[in-house]
Amino acid sequence: MTSPDTEYASLATFYRAAWDQLGRGVADAKHPARTPTLATISANGFPAQRTVVLRAADRAAAEVEIHTDTLTPKVEELRENNKAALHVWIRKSKLQLRLEVCFDILTGLDVADRWNAVPPASRISYGTQPVPGQPITGPFDYEKPTEQARFSVLKGHVQQIEVLYLGTKHQRALYKRTDHWCGQWISP
Ligand SMILES: Cc1cc2nc3c(=O)[nH]c(=O)nc-3n(C[C@H](O)[C@H](O)[C@H](O)COP(=O)(O)O)c2cc1C
Repeated sequence: MTSPDTEYASLATFYRAAWDQLGRGVADAKHPARTPTLATISANGFPAQRTVVLRAADRAAAEVEIHTDTLTPKVEELRENNKAALHVWIRKSKLQLRLEVCFDILTGLDVADRWNAVPPASRISYGTQPVPGQPITGPFDYEKPTEQARFSVLKGHVQQIEVLYLGTKHQRALYKRTDHWCGQWISP
């Protein structure tokens, strides 16, 4: 774990620290990077935000994964516009990560391996009736059957990462896929 007042000597170290945090989020249910905020653009033009669980983070490929119900509004929004953002604040490490991400929506046989790894108790997150977001008469007028066909993996191709470190001396850098993640220090 990065000590709170470490300074990052190079762009490369700073970049690695960002991905290390994402990796920790995947591995550790209690780590703040486990539950980033995902922002999409909704039909009315406003950003729509919600908490999600980070399921995979691959630095070499610059890819992340999120699991969701295929019939949730976020999936419809991503079908319209696959450009989205992820945000995490890791208080202990004083790091804020802001990612621009293009998502592919994977379903069916393409994600059978991921479905097989979902614990049975968690499978009820995929298949809620009525469809999530629909009006219901009373607070518990819904059912949660398990429906594999409703399981989607949102595969995110990271395009840009902005890292902000709020140490004694602030540091901030922008990394882009188009620059092969070389990075650029920017004014905090
Ligand atoms: C801690 C936490 C973790 C969540 N993880 C997920 C997740 O991994 N996938 C998901 O679809 N929804 C997750 N949710 C629920 C979403 O925040 C959201 O309420 C739901 O997916 C509907 O979003 P939408 O209507 O914008 O599509 C989580 C909520 C919380 C509070």
